[in-house]
Amino acid sequence: MSDRGASSAGGFEFRDQMSSMARERLGTTGIGEMISLVVENGAMSFGAGEPSSDMFPVDLMRDAMERAFCDPDIWGYHHDDFGSIELREWIASRMKQDGIAPDWVGPENILLTNGGGEAISLVTEALIDPGSLILVESPTYTESLLTFRKQGAVCVPVQSDDEGIIPSELERIVSARRARFLYTIPNFQNPSGRTTPAERRMRILDILRENDVALVEDDPYHYLSYDGPPPPSYLKMARDDRRVIHTNSFSKIIAPGLRAGWVVIPPALVKTLSSLRVSAGLGRPLAIQKGILFYMQGIDFERTIAGLCGEYRRRRGVMLDLIAKHLTPMGFCTNRPAGGFFIWGSAPGEADVKEFAHYAVREERIGIIPGSAFYPDGEHGGDGSFRLSYSKVGTDAMEEGMIRLARAWRSYVGAERSKA
Ligand SMILES: Cc1ncc(COP(=O)(O)O)c(C=O)c1O
Repeated sequence: MSDRGASSAGGFEFRDQMSSMARERLGTTGIGEMISLVVENGAMSFGAGEPSSDMFPVDLMRDAMERAFCDPDIWGYHHDDFGSIELREWIASRMKQDGIAPDWVGPENILLTNGGGEAISLVTEALIDPGSLILVESPTYTESLLTFRKQGAVCVPVQSDDEGIIPSELERIVSARRARFLYTIPNFQNPSGRTTPAERRMRILDILRENDVALVEDDPYHYLSYDGPPPPSYLKMARDDRRVIHTNSFSKIIAPGLRAGWVVIPPALVKTLSSLRVSAGLGRPLAIQKGILFYMQGIDFERTIAGLCGEYRRRRGVMLDLIAKHLTPMGFCTNRPAGGFFIWGSAPGEADVKEFAHYAVREERIGIIPGSAFYPDGEHGGDGSFRLSYSKVGTDAMEEGMIRLARAWRSYVGAERSKA
């Protein structure tokens, strides 16, 4: 009997069996590390970038799911690999009505996925070979970086400012290196809360056109816009150019536990994405897709979105006021996002915010995510920056969290001084 990979009291170790991808390209993320610390310390958290559970439409969704479960179609294999045609029609029509999709987008261009995360994963598999260069807005959503790297991509950061990707930076990088696509979250970005204005989007699209680069637009916060509608989507702006792949999700507007999202696929990629979908498993749960369809058919969409925005806008306001009261006097700077869940900030001086975040969760039981977690160049970027999320913490608890954070900072700085 072969003992390759065998041994030790812990049982078979899969030493020789593990793929080089699993050995070399997977790792824990800075966010995962902080979430574990929050749980271990029983801490409050401004870290979780998730919707608030008290806003999940539990009763309406239960009724919609009950109806879905009475539908005989849901019980067998579903033979449409792209998912429920009715839900795809609903999405296509909604996106057009809301100015997100251009005329060419129909249900045949929409693939339903296991959350926006799977949409990004499928696009990654379609477009990346080991060693391929891709451009990513920096900072960016850590899980996407992990997905790109798993496929072997080299993620090249493109610097951004308060209005998202800096066009001159994109131009400089794109002309020097041949990249497959640019990944961007144009609205209320995770982690920075920033939104790229329309003129800048147009300039970015022009640069990509001139250099033959595709664009992946990840837009799960689109509808959570608190100060007026967001700028036109890249998908819509590109019109018949069809170089934009758009990923989206029901996680933020219904609930993330449903694991439901979608990708808008340009015609040239429909066949490839369809094959990838099949290779990833036989469909996604039709029961969930039908439940979402019945839920959407039963609500007034605009009113529901206005209700969500009203509550998150309120939470954003309370957190900004608390920041002004507790953090600004100590020299912290933060931005004012126009939507989504996140405020981006920087600590005063030369502080190592990663170290401070660990200190704060241990000593004061309050979690924040250090900015370094979101930079493609990891430890070397983002020192001094951090992300605060206002979505999941009720406004009553927020002040306590902010007091703890301010206290943690004072004692951390004191401890650092006494070391010096
Ligand atoms: C920018 C961004 N993209 C994609 C996702 C994935 O969301 P889901 O897979 O729940 O749809 C998230 C979730 O936080 C996100 O912030």
